[in-house]
Amino acid sequence: MDSFKTKPPIVIAIDGTSASGKSTNARRVAKALNFIYVDTGAMYRTLSWYCLQHKIDVEYERAVAGACTKWKPALECVDGEVHLTVGGYYPAAEIRTGEVSAAVPHVAAVPKVRAWMKKKQRECIRFGDLVMEGRDIGTNVFPETDFKYYLDAHLEERSRRRAAEGVQENLAARDLRDSQRAAAPLMVALGAKVINNSQMSAEETSALILQDIKARLKRDLNG
Ligand code: DC
Repeated sequence: MDSFKTKPPIVIAIDGTSASGKSTNARRVAKALNFIYVDTGAMYRTLSWYCLQHKIDVEYERAVAGACTKWKPALECVDGEVHLTVGGYYPAAEIRTGEVSAAVPHVAAVPKVRAWMKKKQRECIRFGDLVMEGRDIGTNVFPETDFKYYLDAHLEERSRRRAAEGVQENLAARDLRDSQRAAAPLMVALGAKVINNSQMSAEETSALILQDIKARLKRDLNG
């Protein structure tokens, strides 16, 4: 009874270095396709914020892993975006502070945290087709997807973009920690389309991604 089979949701994986334009482009692509947008970095940031709130030492792996078993967050889809809420609250501004940015690479390096996050991130398909951005979406969270993109830009350009947002951050150090950790490090997924957008606008980058997605979808439809 093939005609009753429903198609599994499509997942567009957008990974890459810090300030490579993942959020801007993932949002643009999600909007253009009417897909749900998921910022997985925000999920790691929310757990980091929770640890700081509860005076949990983020450099003590067992304590951070323990926090994962204690906290009771929920996935909510609001205006086309998935949020991880704690006690019904989404700490949108709190997770963008320098304190949380400094804590998050430690929290994200804990294997138990990554396993917990992967499970929650896979659960997001209950909301529909997704554009999910992060560091390990194409390699680890949804390795089965055919739609994998890896964004990057020169360090100077990425630092300039962060500074323009009013954030001074050592991006090189954060990327190094993200790519050298043992659990699901930042790397280019097999089959990912790598886009270096140092010289490109967000319009150009998202147009390139959309063009590629549409070509792949067409190929799938044609057999
Ligand atoms: O994208 P962002 O800067 O908000 O991500 C915050 C941190 O979380 C970053 O240091 C890398 C980590 N992260 C991760 O390890 N895996 C993901 N899928 C998303 C983010």
